[in-house]
Amino acid sequence: MKPWPPGPGSAILAAMQPTPLPPVLTIDGPSGSGKGTISRRVAETLGWHYLDSGALYRAVGLAAAWEGVDLDDDEAVEACARRTRIRFADDAAGEPRVFVNEQDATDELRLETTGAAASSIAAKPGVRAALVEMQHGFRQPPGLVADGRDMGTVIFPDAAFKVFLTASAAERAERRHKQLMDKGVSVNLDSLLGEIIARDERDANRAVAPLRPAPEAVVIDTTGIGIEAVVARVLAHVREGGYPVPAR
Ligand code: C5P
Repeated sequence: MKPWPPGPGSAILAAMQPTPLPPVLTIDGPSGSGKGTISRRVAETLGWHYLDSGALYRAVGLAAAWEGVDLDDDEAVEACARRTRIRFADDAAGEPRVFVNEQDATDELRLETTGAAASSIAAKPGVRAALVEMQHGFRQPPGLVADGRDMGTVIFPDAAFKVFLTASAAERAERRHKQLMDKGVSVNLDSLLGEIIARDERDANRAVAPLRPAPEAVVIDTTGIGIEAVVARVLAHVREGGYPVPAR
């Protein structure tokens, strides 16, 4: 017979302890601040999972457009958010692909028009609520790097590590321009800058989950700083927080 009440160090007490949740590093910031690239590299170094939360909002915006959902009809857009299936998978070459309702939508998701649709539907509280559970589901061992606008403030407020990346609007527009040109998409730099500023304003001024750093976030201005240097600063933040960071 096992003694009762169980003494300190007993297997019963140990089994009753709640399992600690895997650690989370949140990386928030405006469009073009380098979040995606930096988050992926940091996740790779740490061996953690990666959540591109912007892709979820983009996927819903795209699904709504495919289905001809009226973007002004809050209930219809929320219903669309709840039924849209979003799946992340690497292709044979190890490149990340995103499937929306089982259709490979990776390239369409990156278009500025999709970003603008995402920003518009992301202001709806019902849409944000519909995506919370899916985002929490990414928190799996050994840890998660989550990139977005409200990762540190709303979705993972208990995250052990929080970073907020910024950069001047001009530099962000130039980075986006280069990314699109590399993909063979030709866009006008000035109109890109205008779209980025408009999207920032909408994201920062909306009533729900506006774009802003969590009070405890480390803010890094990436203007004029290369990707590797930013990755190193983010990893230094994690290391300073007491987590063992593998050498790169
Ligand atoms: O990061 P990305 O540019 O892919 O995000 C597209 C849009 O999705 C953003 O402009 C923003 O409006 C919305 N978004 C959000 N909350 C997040 C991630 C993205 O509202 N966590």
